[in-house]
Amino acid sequence: MIAIPSIPGFLKEPNGPIGKPVSRVDGRKKVTGNAHYAAEFTLPDLAHGYIVSSAIARGRITRIDTAAALALPGVIHVFTHENRPSLAWFDRKWKDDDAPKGAPFRPLYDAEIHHALQPVALVIAESFELARYAARLVHIEYEAAPHQTDLRANRADSFTPGKDKGGFQPPPKPRGDPEQAFLDSPVQVDAEFTQAAEYHNPMEMHATTVLHHDDGTLTVHDKTQGAQNCHTYICNVFGLAKSAVRVMSPFVGGAFGSGLRPQHQLFMAMLAATQLKRSVRVELSRPQMFSFGHRPETIQRVALGADRDGTLRALIHEAVQESSRNENYVEIVVNWSGQQYKCDNVRLDYTLTRLDVHTPLDQRAPGAATGVTALEIAMDELAGKLGMDPLELRLRNYTETDPNTGNPFSSKELRACFQQGAERFGWAKRSPAPRSMRDGRELIGWGMAAGVWDAMQGQAAAKAVLGVDGKLGVSSATADIGTGTYTVMTQIAADVLGLPIGEVTFCLGDSSLPTAPIEGGSWTVSTVGSAVKAVCDRVRSQLVTLAGKRDDSPLKGVAEEDVLFADGHLIVRDDPSRRLSITDVMRGSGTLSIEEEARALPYLLARARHTFATHSAVFVEVRVDEDLGTIRVARVVSAIAAGRIINPKTARSQIQGAVVWGIGMGLEEGAFTDHRLGRVMNHDYAEYHVPVNADVPDIDVLFVEEHDDMVNALGAKGVGEIGIVGVPAAIANAIHHATGVRVRDFPITLDKVL
Ligand code: MOS
Repeated sequence: MIAIPSIPGFLKEPNGPIGKPVSRVDGRKKVTGNAHYAAEFTLPDLAHGYIVSSAIARGRITRIDTAAALALPGVIHVFTHENRPSLAWFDRKWKDDDAPKGAPFRPLYDAEIHHALQPVALVIAESFELARYAARLVHIEYEAAPHQTDLRANRADSFTPGKDKGGFQPPPKPRGDPEQAFLDSPVQVDAEFTQAAEYHNPMEMHATTVLHHDDGTLTVHDKTQGAQNCHTYICNVFGLAKSAVRVMSPFVGGAFGSGLRPQHQLFMAMLAATQLKRSVRVELSRPQMFSFGHRPETIQRVALGADRDGTLRALIHEAVQESSRNENYVEIVVNWSGQQYKCDNVRLDYTLTRLDVHTPLDQRAPGAATGVTALEIAMDELAGKLGMDPLELRLRNYTETDPNTGNPFSSKELRACFQQGAERFGWAKRSPAPRSMRDGRELIGWGMAAGVWDAMQGQAAAKAVLGVDGKLGVSSATADIGTGTYTVMTQIAADVLGLPIGEVTFCLGDSSLPTAPIEGGSWTVSTVGSAVKAVCDRVRSQLVTLAGKRDDSPLKGVAEEDVLFADGHLIVRDDPSRRLSITDVMRGSGTLSIEEEARALPYLLARARHTFATHSAVFVEVRVDEDLGTIRVARVVSAIAAGRIINPKTARSQIQGAVVWGIGMGLEEGAFTDHRLGRVMNHDYAEYHVPVNADVPDIDVLFVEEHDDMVNALGAKGVGEIGIVGVPAAIANAIHHATGVRVRDFPITLDKVL
């Protein structure tokens, strides 16, 4: 069943839908309210759950009194650690697909409190409002223990996490003599950077609806980036047969990494549904969205040493990051610094500090968004000390091979990103000195940065069913978290079989579909797209075989490579008058439907010998009010190299969304903990600021040509995350250019520039 890598050069049909700005195939459903999310499904007997969150950050529950809550008419049950059932999970260790090293948190396991807002009880009632009200009547007494939530105060107490089973590798060993090379460098930058914790905050809050059917089976509608990850989790945790449960997530209202792991509302909803044997929904409140997963707070040091001509001689990048006590969340942060520029003396260090917090979680370009920010600000500072244009400095140290491994890149058009982005932005007109550009009261600053993200690929399967009516259904258990998966998979399938977009339906978000990994890391086009292409290639071959079978067929004896697929027809390439419709091919051979399944793997040999990455150059104009310090991003140009772009419209939206994230990370987003209480203070949309429309300027996205035969049969690397990388640095660099003030502490709020 393993697909053989197909011949490079995917565009079999020059007028196919690949590369076209096809509008979202799910767009109409979404804007008309016909796309249904996890908390919108129901059955007549649906009960509602509300989670009670811990009031302390560490310690234990000494008493939990549910009498007042249970006394309310309509309150069905209150689950606590005292009355919870014994579950398979409580006796043996079990992890989900995105679990880092350590022991995953188990809700209601015992009386211990490990972090603030830890779920400690679940109230089930006949209505949501009643459950929420009753949750306030659950009386809990705690014995608090001293907690540590302050990374800065505990940074010295850090450790090297070692190898993780996930995609993040430990930093490479030092090369050269970075300490001495730094001391010997005539021009030096040595600076510390701090990044506040960020929370994902998708519009749709995490929710699970478990529908309990009469035959005892369960349909679980969950907000997740991996229906199969949640399916396996549920079956393991609750000891259920795989066939008794189906997890669905056809629509997800944003996730950004928050849905990569099964979250505790899924556990809670399942607990109640299996115990009470009825349908249950559990929704989190916005403040409870701060009870799991976040981009961890990070402290970094970057030291750069250079010759007077700008040649990098030394590069040292150290990062210390928070993790929980039970798991080693790693995102490495520093590795891209050893990959992005040519430098012979490099040391990269990454350590974790355990705090009394829940485990952090991947958030849009985890690691790179944080680490590349520090590197790219340090590069800007170095350019300033050298009196060199920041873009020129990056070109001076450009590398065609990956210095971390010595391997070439499968493709790298970063130079084209620099050139085309600079031209689009008008970078050549920049006046180099800080505070030298203004418009009335506003100081104008232009800053730039480079970005990099890994072009990963996993393995996935897809199924295709072609009907005699020429309609094609393709499916794989991946997700569409707003990224455009439905649309690009439809395009890939339509392209291979020469079908109009409207004749193709792609299904996802269902644990019963062919295996696909969690949707993340920008690997979905690469991973699932390759499987879709592979399975459609098989259908295509079958059609050619069927078409050539009959003696009177116009395609008799024609080899597959000489057959063109277009407009629902098989056409002889050199003689377009010889053609058959797909319907005629199938009817003529008495075939009602063609069904195929295929699996696609990454090209492992190519991957062992090359580095696969997407690159970007981002240019930003900020305007800073000289009197008030208010900072406005006025203009952004983002130039992206990511191989073939399957859909320039959805890809552009991905990059724009990521740039908005970059504006948030740069200027607004930060979860602030009151360390006396050990809990995040600004845990709602009023206090945790994300960019709104008024904060978002014109974002000009351009995709440079990048040809890559090695990445996969599509030549496409994927674009979800590259768009954020470098944006906070470009903003910080622009602010420095505008004001002369160098801020290395994120988010850059106005008090820091005054
Ligand atoms: Mo992404 S942070 O891998 O959803």
